[in-house]
Amino acid sequence: MRPEAIQIIKDEHLAISAVLYSLRYLIKQMRSGSSPNFPLLKAILDYIVSYPDRWHHPKEDKYLFAAVKRRTHEADALIAKLEREHQLGYPMMEALKKQLTAFQNGDATAREQFFETAEHYAELEWAHLSTEEDVFIPIAERVLTTEDWAEINTAFRENDNPLFGIKPKEEAEALYQKILALAPAPMGFGPAA
Ligand SMILES: [Fe+2]
Ligand SMILES: [Fe+2]
Repeated sequence: MRPEAIQIIKDEHLAISAVLYSLRYLIKQMRSGSSPNFPLLKAILDYIVSYPDRWHHPKEDKYLFAAVKRRTHEADALIAKLEREHQLGYPMMEALKKQLTAFQNGDATAREQFFETAEHYAELEWAHLSTEEDVFIPIAERVLTTEDWAEINTAFRENDNPLFGIKPKEEAEALYQKILALAPAPMGFGPAA
């Protein structure tokens, strides 16, 4: 039977991809003259910070990558690359937040920079998610034991960390709903009929 954590990771990747798709769609629209929907752009950045950056990637580093490293060295270079990509994403989000604020304040250079950074971020992230699914997960499935998976499943199943008073999953859900509500119908979400 396939470990539950793999399904959770794939579901999380799907949600992240959908949000990145909407970001790229909005940029295309703005490049061809649509006026910017700042609340939606802001909700998308908030989502990426609160979900993939604060929740999804750290869980991979701490549980999944660590477990594979304990079992084999064959994936060391690949894991180092994936960890580097996680680290690369954080400052890009910081830059995007600043660029969006400047763009909203009428800075034309910041507008272009925001488009470029966001497109670059989406490309990197998509490539990252596919590498995890197509290259890394098959190795993890081969080398990890049932006991390893039990620990990883628990970590991935846990949606909140009440000890620290944060509820990332809940916060991400609310932001995701906000994105859906703000998104124009052609983006493929639209309000439910
Ligand atoms: Fe990742
Ligand atoms: Fe991932």
